[in-house]
Amino acid sequence: MTKTARAFTNIALIKYWGKKDQELKLPYTNSLSLTLDRFYTDTSSEIIDSNKDVISLNDTLLNEEESKRIVKYLDSTREKYDFSEHFKINSVNHVPTSAGFASSASGFAALAASIDQTMALNLDKSQLSILARRGSGSASRSIYGGFVEWIAGDNNDNSFAVPIDENPDIDLEVLSAVINKKAKKISSTVGMEKSVETSPFYPNWVKLVASETNEIKQAIEQKDIQKIGEIAEHNAMSMHALTLSAKPSFTYFEPETVEIIHLIQELRQKGILAYVTIDAGPNVKILGTHKSIEQVKSYLNNLSDVTTVVANIGHGIQYF
Ligand code: PMV
Repeated sequence: MTKTARAFTNIALIKYWGKKDQELKLPYTNSLSLTLDRFYTDTSSEIIDSNKDVISLNDTLLNEEESKRIVKYLDSTREKYDFSEHFKINSVNHVPTSAGFASSASGFAALAASIDQTMALNLDKSQLSILARRGSGSASRSIYGGFVEWIAGDNNDNSFAVPIDENPDIDLEVLSAVINKKAKKISSTVGMEKSVETSPFYPNWVKLVASETNEIKQAIEQKDIQKIGEIAEHNAMSMHALTLSAKPSFTYFEPETVEIIHLIQELRQKGILAYVTIDAGPNVKILGTHKSIEQVKSYLNNLSDVTTVVANIGHGIQYF
């Protein structure tokens, strides 16, 4: 019987922004994330008697062009683990595009876990994280639940995620504020490359991440939500400062992104515990407690063109 692997998406509190090795996806810095419970990918794979992989996404067969990235990934996996089998893969995203999360983190983590199962590779969690990383950097962290750190490393075998606290007892929620507007897309790969190559602040970013990673780990241990939020917000803004200071300058922010940043700053002045973090797109994720997130939600619902989804802390890889 074919088993299904399920991986949940994650939101980085300390961002991964820049690769020192494009092919291996080795980052310049560590990064740290929170796995979320609402958004996940279910992937199953079976061996087929063919020399071509057959890939479906959300029950729709992908054509050659659409399958390219996944086939390339499967080719490198075949080479690495020295097997020649091809697969029929079905991947279903429960990461609604309307939820404002990219599906590459949960997608490649679920795919890595599924191939491990089907080929009985018996990978341990570190090896699984390495395999997921080769698909998409942020996928390395979706192997674990809760708070997770991806250790940058300097070669293929020592760049993987480690759990910090998989079941944290902390009143922390994430609200995704989705801007309902088609923004021009600059992929994270291109955005990172331009930031590394042209932002004069990139060397400082590397130093900043090192110190903020230490600080946020202490805040997590102390369950200090205010501190976690302050560090995460500052780290996200510093990442976006790299895009603004690139040559030529670019930004993922849309007018509504800035509007929400201002709103959250105002709500903080009213005593509501809320902080923002933003990935390579216009949507804003807001960190807070159950109570403060409810309050933030009621303010955001007054904005047109914005929808909200709330997530709690999620699990690591599951099989069923
Ligand atoms: O894993 P990628 O290539 O989709 O890059 C993710 C980049 C950010 O989401 C902006 C930051 C992160 O650490 O997840």
